[in-house]
Amino acid sequence: MIKIKTEREIALMRESGKLTRDVLNYLESKIKVGMTTKELDKLAYDYIVSHGGYPSFLGYQGYPASTCISIDDMVVHGIPSNDIVIKDGQIVSVDVGVILNGWQGDAARTFMVGNVSEEKRRLVEITKECFFKAIENLCDGSPVGNIGYAVQTHAENNGYSVVRALTGHGIGQEMHEDPSVPNFGRRGTGIRLKKGMAIAIEPMINMGTYQVKFLEDGWGVVTKDGKPSAHYENTVAITDNGVEILTL
Ligand code: MF3
Ligand code: CO
Repeated sequence: MIKIKTEREIALMRESGKLTRDVLNYLESKIKVGMTTKELDKLAYDYIVSHGGYPSFLGYQGYPASTCISIDDMVVHGIPSNDIVIKDGQIVSVDVGVILNGWQGDAARTFMVGNVSEEKRRLVEITKECFFKAIENLCDGSPVGNIGYAVQTHAENNGYSVVRALTGHGIGQEMHEDPSVPNFGRRGTGIRLKKGMAIAIEPMINMGTYQVKFLEDGWGVVTKDGKPSAHYENTVAITDNGVEILTL
């Protein structure tokens, strides 16, 4: 069941969205070569809690941290660790969720740390562009398949592939609500988006094969061929005249 949010509820999501964005901007200002992913995660926890929110990932189905931090060939859901040190030239995806006054925000960025190769930079750029292509013509009445079509077309036109094992999702008082929002698909298919729906659109784009492997920790997802992957996510609301990005 897809929940339609009232104007007042969207206003509350705007606030949780802003905090989600602020955490990511804060982490971007702090991320450095030599830092562990656990240190970065602690900064996120402290920031969220000191601004009146709660990190929605923490304890979600037993997840042990406030963020997912996924480096290079890790696609998503990297568990922050004292043993993982951020190195020069890595691309570091940070995914964070916030609950504020009962409403969720969910967003991710891929940070480029130090001297990142031209080919990885391009992957990160195109992944971000995939998100913006997806929302370009999105409005009340758009079939959800248009999102996947736009993401897949832009990724594949640039020689990349789209992860299929994971998707975007509806969001509201729960982090994961209906509908599922795949990053691949055909134009004109799927349910029609309506004013008052809120969704997280999150392209996960691989340099090589679209295929992924699931790690034994029960969370981490890595590319099957070991090539890099990037992630970019925002929570958006469908409005009268298109979409409003709540986490930017
Ligand atoms: N942000 C992720 C998503 O969009 C969720 C992370 S999983 C968690 O689905 F367990 F860490 F919360
Ligand atoms: Co999400």
